[in-house]
Amino acid sequence: MAWFPTPQALAPLLGDIGVPMEQFMAQCADGRSSLSCDLAALRAIERSGWGLCPLPGEPKATELARMRNDLWPALHVVALYHCTASGVERVTLQGSARIAEAVPFTGCVFVARRREEVMSPTVTVAKFDQNAGGWNGERGQPGYGHFRWIRRYVGLFAAPRPGVRILDFGCGAGWVGIEASLAAGGAPLAAFDPSPEMVRIAEANARAEGLTNFVGRVGFGEAPPFDERFGLVISSGVVSFSPDQPRWFDGLARCVEPGGTLVLGDLNPHSRGMRQRRSTRPLLPARELNALLAAQARHELERRGFRHEATAGYQLTRPVPQLAHWSDTRLGGALSPLLLAWNRLRAGPTQELAAFDSWVMRFRAP
Ligand SMILES: C[S@@+](CC[C@H](N)C(=O)[O-])C[C@H]1O[C@@H](n2cnc3c(N)ncnc32)[C@H](O)[C@@H]1O
Repeated sequence: MAWFPTPQALAPLLGDIGVPMEQFMAQCADGRSSLSCDLAALRAIERSGWGLCPLPGEPKATELARMRNDLWPALHVVALYHCTASGVERVTLQGSARIAEAVPFTGCVFVARRREEVMSPTVTVAKFDQNAGGWNGERGQPGYGHFRWIRRYVGLFAAPRPGVRILDFGCGAGWVGIEASLAAGGAPLAAFDPSPEMVRIAEANARAEGLTNFVGRVGFGEAPPFDERFGLVISSGVVSFSPDQPRWFDGLARCVEPGGTLVLGDLNPHSRGMRQRRSTRPLLPARELNALLAAQARHELERRGFRHEATAGYQLTRPVPQLAHWSDTRLGGALSPLLLAWNRLRAGPTQELAAFDSWVMRFRAP
């Protein structure tokens, strides 16, 4: 394999990743890192470490996406380096940047990390602390109506009774729990999130909405920071972030009081749009690969004694999000009201979820 680069040829990439050459070589020697185009060899990387997979030429995006899917759930592809005669370009979900002059290798190198590392508690806290403002939506921006509507949809799917004690499980900026609490006449609201910054924002949002009975804490779903149980527990868009879903479901189940209501919502990995993204995009957030089907989540809860009451689909899939993005970036949001109206019209109870990027279900606790 004449095209296969030596580790030395990839020194600028290792520098960019932040792994000194000697460390990388030592890790390769004891199985913690790998430089290989053999997916099985990459999957065998143990504990923390990096897999670098060099490929000759310019592989098609669909080929890279297929390799990424084959590595999951052992490893997740976090970056691609395109090495050409004019230099080395790094591509991540955050964007692309030229990082070095040409290296003695022409091709593409992808970087894979162990799933447990990519989804570790430390990474989660850092990520959401850093981008907490972004998860609060931007008032006045074209997409804000949609942002608030989806949280309201999930919050009201619970049909909250006045006075019921509510827990927002992985609250982010708090809007799902806030909508539920407001609908229940300002019912007491507890909320937690791993990101202290998200909890701070949730508390400020609750206060600004006039909720006086709010308690916010920092913690993970796998070990919820509340000992008491709640009449209504809502978790929206969270389970796909958990690296240990059985423990996460145990944590969720023990927060609901006997006979209480549980509402769980998340991404639908089998929607048309999500399937297409997985087969055509080399880089995706780990969360999209980690997302559960509604049927899988339902199975987890039924195993724990919960009774399923209803399933709904919401957030229309492709091409609606693409149209919304195009409208927001090119037309100043001119289509936003129309697309939001379409979404509102179509969201609702169904078992046919392919048309929706998100599902939400309601359960009764044993
Ligand atoms: C997509 S946001 C959703 C926030 C909010 N529930 C909503 O619907 O707007 C995901 C949130 O889950 C939190 N999160 C990530 N991993 C978690 C875990 N293991 N347990 C609980 N929350 C988690 C993140 O910090 C983040 O605020």
